[in-house]
Amino acid sequence: MDLFEKLQANRGPLGSISHIDDNYYMFPMLEGEIAPRMQFKGKTVLTWSLNNYLGLANHPEVRKADAEAAEKYGLGYPMGARMMTGNTKYHHQLENELAEFVGKPAGLLLNYGYQGVLSIIDALVGRKDVIVYDAECHACIIDGVRLHMGKRFVYPHNDISNLELQLKRAEKITKETGGGILVITEGVFGMSGNTGDLKGIVELKKKFDFRLMVDDAHGFGTMGKNGAGTAEHYGVTDEVDIYFATFAKSMASIGGFLASDPKVLDVLKYNLRSQIFAKSLPLAIVLGNIKRLELIKKHPEFKDNLWKIVNALQSGLKEMGLNIGTTKSPVTPVVLSGDPFEAANLMKDLRSNYNIFCSAVAYPVVPKGTIIVRIIPTAVHTLDDVKETLKVFETIKEKLHDGVYLKEGEKGATLLET
Ligand SMILES: Cc1ncc(COP(=O)(O)O)c(C=O)c1O
Repeated sequence: MDLFEKLQANRGPLGSISHIDDNYYMFPMLEGEIAPRMQFKGKTVLTWSLNNYLGLANHPEVRKADAEAAEKYGLGYPMGARMMTGNTKYHHQLENELAEFVGKPAGLLLNYGYQGVLSIIDALVGRKDVIVYDAECHACIIDGVRLHMGKRFVYPHNDISNLELQLKRAEKITKETGGGILVITEGVFGMSGNTGDLKGIVELKKKFDFRLMVDDAHGFGTMGKNGAGTAEHYGVTDEVDIYFATFAKSMASIGGFLASDPKVLDVLKYNLRSQIFAKSLPLAIVLGNIKRLELIKKHPEFKDNLWKIVNALQSGLKEMGLNIGTTKSPVTPVVLSGDPFEAANLMKDLRSNYNIFCSAVAYPVVPKGTIIVRIIPTAVHTLDDVKETLKVFETIKEKLHDGVYLKEGEKGATLLET
């Protein structure tokens, strides 16, 4: 069969439902400056779906630093991979400052978080080693694990007694092969907002020999006293062997970094394939990130504002009887009951009639009958934004309960007209 024909015939789980879409649920276009109020299909909507946790995306000092750096260096400089011709003193400056901020002795920049994670896993483990990872880990971890030629064991999300079982299995193997064990979890899980049980995992280091890698994409900047992340929050910075975070969330930029022992980084930097065979971060991005980190350190009130909004929103939702799952972070899921059509209708109602823009997932991303509406608060939202949103959720909760979103058409449920 021709590959292009095969592709048309098998469009994948999301591609196969693209016919019901009109840049509404998938590839929507939010326009205007990055802020709580943006434009969507010609209307102003209250956005709760951007990981701009600390509100840095549109901070005047950030915009100025980005623009000045781009004017001075363009977007190309430096050309080439870091190892060849793409290195500058500012790349080193940023990684040193990041490492210091998260309480680790050394840091290493990554030109994208996703590819970085893939390569960290790929470089750390070989055929004789075993990976043990949390079942709810992000796609970049799953894809990194897929590259692994040796054994891998998954434990149910945050189930520490099961993790112990998997470690026992892993240990049996490594005793034979002479390999090592890598445990991988997230600091903050991006869908549920739950934190990885870092304390529970670290406790197991007393019984087993393993290295711990934490993907703290959503925890960096939002968790811990200084915003240094989930390891800081739980007081286990020293026990996390590889700390990773992206710049795509609290830093409102692009790229990422890992922080660890300098002896380890000194080997990894020669072996991360997605970095040594790819162009380094442009200087405009590096300088923009230096400014963002400076602001995060200088303005703890950004994180305080974020949590003021988070607390008001989460306690308001709980008070009206809504289920926000196990979140312990700014990520706020609202767990509702309904099928994928109801989820689609609910989203349309929220966006078109109530001007609230957030994202939702239904089966097969979450179990059948469950809809999760994910709300991402930021430091630049206001308590009035929260009030407005809570009122709307009170209404949609009743509508969902009354079956308003179950509109029967000729071929079963159909989407609401807007
Ligand atoms: C948990 C987690 N890890 C890694 C990534 C990938 O980071 P990046 O967007 O920098 O590629 C993301 C998404 O941004 C994420 O949510």
